[in-house]
Amino acid sequence: MAQLLAVTDLHTQFFTRDGVVRAVDGVSFELDQGETLGIVGESGCGKSVTALSLMRLIPQPPGKIVKGSIVFDGADVLKMDDDEVRSIRGNNIAMIFQDPMTSLNPVLTISRQISEALELHLKMDRSESRKRTIELLDLVNIPSAKKRLDDYPHQFSGGMRQRVMIAMALSCNPKMILADEPTTALDVTIQAQILDLLKNLAREFRTAFILITHDLGVVAGMTQRIHVMYAGKIVEKADTGELFANPKMPYTWGLLRSIPRLDEHRKAKLLPIEGLPPDLIAPPPGCRFEPRCQYRRDVCREKEPELKHIPNAKADHEARCWGTQEGGWLVNTDWRREIGDVQVIEEIKKEIADLPPEAKREGDGETPPPDKPKVN
Ligand SMILES: Nc1ncnc2c1ncn2[C@@H]1O[C@H](COP(=O)(O)OP(=O)(O)OP(=O)(O)O)[C@@H](O)[C@H]1O
Ligand code: SF4
Ligand SMILES: [Mg+2]
Repeated sequence: MAQLLAVTDLHTQFFTRDGVVRAVDGVSFELDQGETLGIVGESGCGKSVTALSLMRLIPQPPGKIVKGSIVFDGADVLKMDDDEVRSIRGNNIAMIFQDPMTSLNPVLTISRQISEALELHLKMDRSESRKRTIELLDLVNIPSAKKRLDDYPHQFSGGMRQRVMIAMALSCNPKMILADEPTTALDVTIQAQILDLLKNLAREFRTAFILITHDLGVVAGMTQRIHVMYAGKIVEKADTGELFANPKMPYTWGLLRSIPRLDEHRKAKLLPIEGLPPDLIAPPPGCRFEPRCQYRRDVCREKEPELKHIPNAKADHEARCWGTQEGGWLVNTDWRREIGDVQVIEEIKKEIADLPPEAKREGDGETPPPDKPKVN
């Protein structure tokens, strides 16, 4: 399938009084049209800064994209002028944040906020945009959408506000949706409903979709590929099924171990990873996970491992670990035994199996997807 996004060697830094924070430190990845990708990692690893860099929304100062390239739909985002960037935001790339109140204007009605985007980007007149707004609110299951058009954001519950954000994101038929922790602020039941809605809409619209979360369990049933981030870098990349069947990085093992249990409503952690992520002003010179890794050896502290293909894994599965790379001391380690209780992983693997065949990467290129339906 045609490539939509190519991020190459992206470096985004913040110039603070204490020093330079290397928030995103050489991140590269690609996304095809209609492909779904999960970016997963603990708090502070650079997930949001990666997303904001793609949208050119890094506050400058103190932040700056100091190196790398971002090519979206054939155009170099870092070379665009302000008008061009504004036009791709909302029009081609839509973003859904954790807290909808940061994106919704509290003094404008819901109808005004969605209609404005439709009038600006799709050149609709007032009555067309109002009609389309009702359709969009219906699509995201807002009850009595017609009656709620002239309500203000504070008149909606948290879950409903997130649905409004999703309607706004879909309004201009974007080629890509970036969702940054879209459900973290919601309670568990509402979380599941919103994730289900996003999954179904991304499938129906064939929109490329990047889901950012700290919870590996959340992306499992939602995305075709997963990239694990740690301390500003991607440390493992694989198809979702492959990552859960054959993880190749001790940090990923730690994340798998810390997935909240399904039977406890994903509230209780199995086992958190001990220690804290490193300071991104002065990260460790070797493997960034080394201070917390129970499998470390001297080489891990001395030299940084590259992100590369490892033995006994699928061709496009890469990890950044001396231990699991060719000739490493973890090549034959049974990760299941290392993480202990795998019941939760088995539950998650059922969710992956639930993804329809056309949503899996293996089918790509064989059966082209139908034209993306329009919401009108
Ligand atoms: N405006 C800023 N000024 C200085 N440092 C910043 C700024 N914004 C982000 N950072 C730093 O960049 C790093 C990456 O932050 P980022 O927000 O991308 O983390 P994250 O992975 O999204 O975490 P979370 O899961 O908590 O949202 C962190 O060390 C953070 O402190
Ligand atoms: S490179 Fe070494 S320290 Fe880093 S994850 Fe692998 S084994 Fe652990
Ligand atoms: Mg974040």
